Amino acid sequence: MQVSRPFRTAIVPAAGMGTRFLPTTKTVPKELLPVVDTPGIEMVAAEAADAGASRLLIVTAPGKDAVVAHFEPQPELESTLAARGKEALAAKVRRAAELIEVATVTQDEPKGLGHAVGCAGDALAADEEAVAVLLPDDLVLPSGVLTRMAEVRARHGGSVLCAFDVPREQISAYGVFDVEDTADPDVKRVKDMVEKPPADKAPSTYATAGRYLLDREIFDALKRITPGAGGELQLTDAVALLIAEGHPVHVVVHRGGRHDLGNPAGYARAFVDFALAHPDYGPALHNWLAERLTWTGSGVRGA
Ligand code: UTP
Repeated sequence: MQVSRPFRTAIVPAAGMGTRFLPTTKTVPKELLPVVDTPGIEMVAAEAADAGASRLLIVTAPGKDAVVAHFEPQPELESTLAARGKEALAAKVRRAAELIEVATVTQDEPKGLGHAVGCAGDALAADEEAVAVLLPDDLVLPSGVLTRMAEVRARHGGSVLCAFDVPREQISAYGVFDVEDTADPDVKRVKDMVEKPPADKAPSTYATAGRYLLDREIFDALKRITPGAGGELQLTDAVALLIAEGHPVHVVVHRGGRHDLGNPAGYARAFVDFALAHPDYGPALHNWLAERLTWTGSGVRGA
């Protein structure tokens, strides 16, 4: 199905405290931690641009200016690299600034993902009926699910989220959708959402992922919810409110891969996965890992 410009703005909330990466996040925003050599937020910006977004609206926080600076041109660095014949590196420096137009809004206090998304509402133009939200610490692979989500909005209206079918024994780590089937086996209508249910109580094995295509009604719902888990305003509570009020919400079940960059364990996996696939670093890392896995004990050798 052809879908013409279903959304122009992609909101990327990047104002969290990143406490799971302390002490690094005292000074380095977690959204800039490199996956091999590229920050997760640049990968997500590329995904938004590929899906047809023309503007990345980064929700930033005081003290996290480096996130936005990453998307600004650095002409001096580029010309130094070019003068040294390092054109490939200069192209890497240019890439983030060339991907997509970037705008920012500030969330003064980290009051939760729902609050962060709500801060972006006034920055939308009057004719923007829907908006994409991409969490920069969630890599959804391969890229392309947002295009599929836009097709589902064109067919069913309302809001469309992304789900992963995870093994039932792991489901209690996630937000879980209560769904009913549609004619398309990978598109489900959402009846409810439950946060981190015990495995035997989970209404399905479809877990939430950090991609949303939200009708702009979400901004009104975000004003009407009260703080939930951890005293924070939760985006899922606003989506649940819309569902309760009869607004259509569907999920696209993404049959690809995923990396959670938001915690050190998931980040380590992502780094190793991307490094193994890298033509320069992959073969040596593969050999080292194979040897490393034969060592006894879990300590760092030589530490
Ligand atoms: P997370 O909960 O993974 O990020 O939010 P966090 O709060 O920074 O991490 P921890 O729990 O302290 O380790 C998902 C995304 O939402 C943003 C974060 O920056 C992250 O990209 N976020 C979260 C906000 O923009 N504002 C908030 O108040 C909370």
